[in-house]
This record gives sequence, C-alpha cells and structure tokens, in this order.
Amino acid sequence: MKRDSFGSRLGILAAAAGSAIGLGNIWKFPFVTGQNGGAAFILVYLFCIALIGLPVMVSEFVLGRKTQANAAGAFKAIEKEKPWYLSGYVAIGTAFIILSYYAMIAGWIFSYIGRAATGKLITVAPEKLGSYFESIIGSNIEPMFCTFLVIAFTAFMVLSGVKDGIEKYSKILMPILLVILVGLMIRSVTLDGASKGLEFLFKPNWSSLTTEGVLEALGHAFYSLSLGMGIIITYGSYINKKENILKLALQVTIADTVIALMAGTVIFPAVFAYGLEPNAGPGLIFITLPAVFREMPLGALFETLFFLLVGIAALTSTISLLEVVVAFVTEQFNIARKKATVLLAAIIYLVSIPSVLSFGAWSDIKIFGRTFFDLFDQTASNILLPIGGLLVCIFVGWVWGSENAVKEITSNGKYQFNYQRAYDFIIKLLAPAAIIVIFLNATGLLDK
Ligand code: PHE
Repeated sequence: MKRDSFGSRLGILAAAAGSAIGLGNIWKFPFVTGQNGGAAFILVYLFCIALIGLPVMVSEFVLGRKTQANAAGAFKAIEKEKPWYLSGYVAIGTAFIILSYYAMIAGWIFSYIGRAATGKLITVAPEKLGSYFESIIGSNIEPMFCTFLVIAFTAFMVLSGVKDGIEKYSKILMPILLVILVGLMIRSVTLDGASKGLEFLFKPNWSSLTTEGVLEALGHAFYSLSLGMGIIITYGSYINKKENILKLALQVTIADTVIALMAGTVIFPAVFAYGLEPNAGPGLIFITLPAVFREMPLGALFETLFFLLVGIAALTSTISLLEVVVAFVTEQFNIARKKATVLLAAIIYLVSIPSVLSFGAWSDIKIFGRTFFDLFDQTASNILLPIGGLLVCIFVGWVWGSENAVKEITSNGKYQFNYQRAYDFIIKLLAPAAIIVIFLNATGLLDK
C-alpha cells in the first residue's frame, strides 16, 4: 500500500501549525499567564520554546521523515533489536488518552458556540456565569452530545487521508482562525483602558515569577508544540525528502507562539478594560470572558466569533491526535484507513464518557482519590507526556545519534545547518534534564 503524504509545503505548515495551535494557546496559555503574573512568565516561556521546544520538534520531524513510518514504526525502523518501539507505544497511548478528554473540553466550547450564537450566553448575569458553566458541564447529556460532535467532525476530516483530509481542512480552517483572531485583537486593544492589559502581558514583573511558574512554562512549551506524543513524528513521515525541516519547525514554532500571544492580546486588554481579574484559572474563557462580552458593543457577535475561533483551533488539534492513532493501527494491523478511523473514533468516544461524567453523574466516583477526568489528565500530562518526550530525546540523541539526525535535517547536505554542537548538547543532555525536572515537579516527587 502506498503511503499517503502531504501535497504542498503550505499544507504541511497548516496541518502542523494546526496541531500545535489549540486549546493550549487560546485557553491554557492565557490562564497560566494570568496565574503566574504575566510578562515575566511569558519571557521564560519564550526561552523554553526556543531552547528546548524547537530542537525537540526538529528531532521528531526528522525521525518521522527518515523512517517514513508511524510513531512506533519509526523507532523500530532505526533500532530493530531492542524494544525501543515501546516508546512509540507510550506516545500513541498518550495521544489516545489526551484525545478522549481534549474532545470533551472542545465539546464545552461547542456548547458555548451554540449558546453564544443564539444569544443566550450574553443574557446571563455576570455573577451567575460560574454556576452557568458548571451546570452545562455537569449536565451529562449535553456534554456527551457535544463530545460526540467533536469526535465525529474529527473522524470525518481524518477519514479522507492526509492530503485530501487533514491537509485540505487545515488549509481552510487555519486562515479562518487567523482572520477571526486579528479581528478580535483589534476590538480588544481599542477598548478604553486596554493598556493595562497590554502592560500586564508585556511588561515583566519578576517578583511574581515562582519556580513553579518556570516549570509550568517548560511543561506548557511541550504541550503547546504537540511534542512527546508522536504527532510530529507522524506528520514528519508524510513530508518529502526535499523539504527544509529546520525552516518548517521554525515556522510552526513561531506560528504557535505568535498565536498564543495574540490570544493573550485578545483576552487581557478586555479583561482589564472591564475591571475583571486576570487570574481566574481554567474558568477564564468560560466565566470571565462572557462577563466582558456583555459590556462590549456588539458583544454577542464577538462572543460567538471568539468561541468559534477556539472551536476551530481545537479541531485542528484533535485531527492530529486521531491521526497518530489511525496511522499506527492502519500500518500495524493492515486495516483500511476508513475502517480504522471509524472504529478508533468510536472507542475514543467510549473512553471519553467517564471523563464527561466526572463533572456530573459520576463526580463522586474516585480512583486513587481522583475523578476519571483528573486521573486521565494527570496520568497523560504529568507522567506519559514527559516520558514520551524524554524517550524521543534519548533515542534521537544517543541511539540513532545526533549526527544522523543532522544528516536528515540537512537533507543529506542540501541545506546548511550550523548549530550541530548546540543541537547535540540540547538533545542529549539539556532537554532530557529539563524534562526530568518537570516530571519530578509535576508528580510531586521534587517536594518529598
Ligand atoms: N498543542 C495543542 C494545543 O496547544 C494541544 C495538543 C496536545 C494537541 C497534544 C495535540 C496533541 O492545544
């Protein structure tokens, strides 16, 4: 069976940036920035992205492209004897689990799109927005239905393959995302009192930065760039040999970072302009922002556009999560793509149900003291994701060898690459060390 591949450079960029740009940029980045005091946190984040995120992304891209295989096959193609392919299994398993609850959160966004578009959300009194949000996510049926919609849309786009599915839809959705984002940004920064929000974002106050904050920045860099779960390896395997990988990784990284900053620029000026607090945490976009839109002229329209934006960003990320698993199953078990996609989507939907219900009917069911959602989220983000990232670095740096990775980066000498020593140091030592520290911190082992 001939492997599918991307058809154009722009398509690769749209798909990879689409994966990277997601809830992490528009939902999580603003709220962790808000909780960690703004600009100082952002500077640390930028540093982590450039120093560690970018080199690891390059490594994942070349690992995929060199081997032209799925996330597990890539390891196997290079190391045939030892069971390194198990690292691929970790990555694919992580993508699977993350997709199950990422789709749920995207489902909440779908609920909000519907309520914003029908003008219901704008009529909710600010002090009621918190309980409004909780009543939606705790209502069992609606979030189950919306999660279903997210997974169904995702499966629909993945079904037709890389070029005719993923690439095609990414090329449509990403420009729409950009247009909405720019529109909202202009609206937000032209509000009276917006400057306080810009100051919060761009003027560092170092005293508000904690060690926790630094580690959070590093962890978020990985998450935001979609690293450590086989996504970039899988997308790399659909890229042709002539493509300049360094340039591509740089563009994806810049796009991801710029979009996160733009999302911050939409949210904080508006939040400050209407005298609200920036540190609301996960409720920032669901509870704080609707209060902001209420006050804004044409608020219902901007509110609908905002949630549409988040929904689009989420969908291009769920596509990539599903693709990792689909690529693996089709190649490993020789199953046709359509069949594999439908089957996997159905299984992922079933796995998402306990997470959905952990905000409603099953909120009292605890495993190791956690709800299903917390369990999935913490296992995937705090344990599996760092392990996946660490294994990629060790594999590329020490097993495959960074000199071989560099050969692939340069397309066997076609492109210049002057950072060999820095790359070697980062991928063999710095990135693994950083990941181990994040891991120890996130699992609480560091405080013991
Ligand atoms: N990078 C995506 C984001 O910022 C999240 C994501 C994580 C997507 C893992 C795919 C895989 O939201």
